[in-house]
Amino acid sequence: MYKPSQNKLEILLEVATEAVMTAGVILQDLWGKLEKIEEKGRPGDLVTEADKTAEAAILNILRRRVPQHQILAEESGLLGVAESDYLWVIDPLDGTTNYAHGYPIYAVSVGLLIEGIPQVGAIYDPFKKELFRAAKGLGATLNYRSIQVSKTTELSNSLLVTGFPYDRQETQDTNYTEFCYLTHITQGVRRTGSAALDLANVACGRLDGYWERGLSPWDISAGIIILEEAGGKISAYDESTLILKSGRLLATNGHIHHVLSQALDGALPWLQNFYKAKSL
Ligand code: IPD
Ligand code: CA
Ligand code: CA
Repeated sequence: MYKPSQNKLEILLEVATEAVMTAGVILQDLWGKLEKIEEKGRPGDLVTEADKTAEAAILNILRRRVPQHQILAEESGLLGVAESDYLWVIDPLDGTTNYAHGYPIYAVSVGLLIEGIPQVGAIYDPFKKELFRAAKGLGATLNYRSIQVSKTTELSNSLLVTGFPYDRQETQDTNYTEFCYLTHITQGVRRTGSAALDLANVACGRLDGYWERGLSPWDISAGIIILEEAGGKISAYDESTLILKSGRLLATNGHIHHVLSQALDGALPWLQNFYKAKSL
């Protein structure tokens, strides 16, 4: 794996920071003033002028500061130099459904993959004024203070978070079963509506673990490096190496990784038994 020098990583992290902070101001300015909310195809998958304006501002910054790199932006697709090993992955507004309803859980997320591996990331929550940042080997911070994952070792003591895919009306892989089982055996499972903040909140120890399917690279690229640098673990549900495009992610403080993976696997038989026992 190619790893740039510390100096270069710091410069790239500054680029990511400028991008999320600029977009954050736009999201705050447009808060509560939306005129146009559209559906992108699947029910509930929304896009607003806030997504588009924030993305345009991020693209301007990247075109000016790293014109030689490639970009994958949620609303604009693939842009920039196709041969580059550097791919910026942008979610201009993560939590659009919350934002459109005036529910203040949303963020902007900018990650950088180098040879396909997340190495730089910044996530900004304009409502709480929280900036999460990390670069490979340089640690993770929240508002420039170092962060670490939680020390929770038991599922029964853990607070988890998850989400439900936009294609839930067309698939049986809805995550409803897993949600029921994990709710039953932990201190709780939250559903915030922002994958980027879910990862950031595991990174700073407020939550112990997160799983979700149906995610896109822009939802998680920045969050992955922030969580890893905070000491957390990322994989596929079965603990194999994460394939970013699979959209199926297990992210924890490391201590509960194996037990959470096993619990996801055991969710369906548990629910079947649960209902069988109830009907007796
Ligand atoms: C969504 C959020 C949500 C997750 C969805 C994402 P968007 O992103 O991260 O938490 O459950 O899968 O698509 O659409 O608000 O950018
Ligand atoms: Ca998103
Ligand atoms: Ca988005």
